[in-house]
Amino acid sequence: MTVPTRILLVSGSLRGGSVNGAVLRTALDVAPDDIAPVVFDGLGGLPHFNPDEDVDPLPPPVAELRAAIDDAHAVLFCTPEYAGTMPGSFKNLLDWTVGGGEIYEKPVGWINAASPGRGALAHESLRTVLTYTGSRIIEGAAVRITVVRSAIEPDGLVHDPEIRAQILDVLNALARS
Ligand code: FNR
Repeated sequence: MTVPTRILLVSGSLRGGSVNGAVLRTALDVAPDDIAPVVFDGLGGLPHFNPDEDVDPLPPPVAELRAAIDDAHAVLFCTPEYAGTMPGSFKNLLDWTVGGGEIYEKPVGWINAASPGRGALAHESLRTVLTYTGSRIIEGAAVRITVVRSAIEPDGLVHDPEIRAQILDVLNALARS
């Protein structure tokens, strides 16, 4: 039996009821057997980035983040746009990835899930930062998808077939990379 391709899912939102969180839960739901998505849920526990703390022993939440990236074949990000860029807490997570190097040349993608006409600046910011980290951006997996809050069903998932198909396409593009 082949080992499923591990894809780390990282949301940039700490909000309960997050659209981005719902998209990533939906990724878990649509993933075929040969893809093993794993959620990183430590965003809120990361300390503020400080180069003085980027030494051994690392703060445990940072060590967990870096190990999760290292263990994954690819990383899928899903972040909201705040004030014309990505949320500060999420940029903080990305800053912590720089010193470790685990993300260097790692295949990465993102789903920019936003209301119609929104979120373009978060999309651009992610490309800038992930290019800087030396990640391998998989173009077929760096997409903008319109997802309104009402698309999230009571079970916390998105059931719209078109959106689910787009999420599956992103997972497949990352798994093939
Ligand atoms: C926002 N939002 C937002 N949207 C946008 O398109 N451009 C922006 O600059 C901002 N700025 C912004 C700042 C702050 C402080 C908040 C709280 C919100 C809207 C936000 O991106 C939208 O509500 C997302 O759906 C939030 O993502 P989650 O938490 O649902 O995943």
